[in-house]
Amino acid sequence: MTMIRVQSRPAFPKSLFRGYSTLAVLMDENTKMHCYPLIKDKLPPHVWIEMRAGEASKNLATCQNIWQQFTDSGLDRHSLVIIVGGGVPGDLGAFCASTFKRGLDFILVPTTLLAMADSSIGGKTGIDFGSLKNHIGTFAPPVATWIATDFLRTLPLEELRSGFAEVIKHCLISDRRLWASVRQKPLDRQDWLKLVQSSVKFKSAVVRKDPKESGLRKILNYGHTMGHALEGYYLHTNSRLLHGDAVAAGMVLEGHIAFQKKLLTRQELAEISDYILGVFGKVELPVMEKLMPSLLQDKKNRGKKILMALPKHIGQACFDRPVSEREIWDAAAYYDNIQT
Ligand SMILES: NC(=O)c1ccc[n+]([C@@H]2O[C@H](COP(=O)([O-])OP(=O)(O)OC[C@H]3O[C@@H](n4cnc5c(N)ncnc54)[C@H](O)[C@@H]3O)[C@@H](O)[C@H]2O)c1
Ligand SMILES: [Zn+2]
Repeated sequence: MTMIRVQSRPAFPKSLFRGYSTLAVLMDENTKMHCYPLIKDKLPPHVWIEMRAGEASKNLATCQNIWQQFTDSGLDRHSLVIIVGGGVPGDLGAFCASTFKRGLDFILVPTTLLAMADSSIGGKTGIDFGSLKNHIGTFAPPVATWIATDFLRTLPLEELRSGFAEVIKHCLISDRRLWASVRQKPLDRQDWLKLVQSSVKFKSAVVRKDPKESGLRKILNYGHTMGHALEGYYLHTNSRLLHGDAVAAGMVLEGHIAFQKKLLTRQELAEISDYILGVFGKVELPVMEKLMPSLLQDKKNRGKKILMALPKHIGQACFDRPVSEREIWDAAAYYDNIQT
């Protein structure tokens, strides 16, 4: 069982590190500069493992480099890897640790809102494969996830906003009251400690019931079928689209699909679209044909059918809903026509 702590200041009990032969701290250049200084004196002696920041590094070449650094640093089966970073070092570092010498223990210290509220919970590891997001990966839980919201102080605003998409997603699929309070406030007035605590509680409960995503856990993919397709598409253009920005657009598009299926009322759809577009602005959609190959490859599909997790009124969700190409085109037309 993964131990999970959510606090504002970073602090670790000594017992967390007891019994390991070597400690390795994996960071990217930004977390090394901004986050490592907050914890370095709180850790026992350790070696550094470094990687380049950003989604473009979430690939096999980076894994090879990290496995090489693990090897050069003499890590053995009794080593512990402490991953200090957002979802990219988190997913990739966990993948590398969980496969190196058939698996090392690792601890996640998430430093982005996205990683605190979402990616550090649930035991999914992974890397991208070409434009296919998280196409290669495993389920491997950390021994602990240690969250401290103080790390958010140095996080660039656009990254904070990206993580906010996952918080909004959790509200829309599980907590109507929290959504009502979140949508009263702009991004800079949210209570991050409270929101991270609530996201962690909700996601952990879902993951406990369905660790391998054979049913209920699929609801967490709301916004992600369209979101991942957009994110993958943008990865190979000159413009950058953050995961959360893609998911935000995905939640509006899939919100419209839910509306077409009478799972959301027009009023609910408008509420979702207005708030999300107010905070995130509008993403330029490619023609839907360009997204189809990746939509058809989505891990949630069965055979050639596109299956989605959709909101069922605000505060609940359903999963494995077959969606037609026509419904996707209509959702894209709705999105394109929204005035901002
Ligand atoms: N495993 C899961 O269940 C799961 C769930 C959701 C998302 N994800 C994955 O998470 C990834 C996105 O995560 P992310 O948004 O955290 O990206 P990220 O790790 O790339 O972090 C975003 C940027 O912020 C910098 N940064 C991180 N913490 C900082 C801090 N405290 N101060 C200053 N800069 C900081 C990073 O160096 C990077 O440049 C995607 O690859 C997505 O697929 C995984
Ligand atoms: Zn996500």
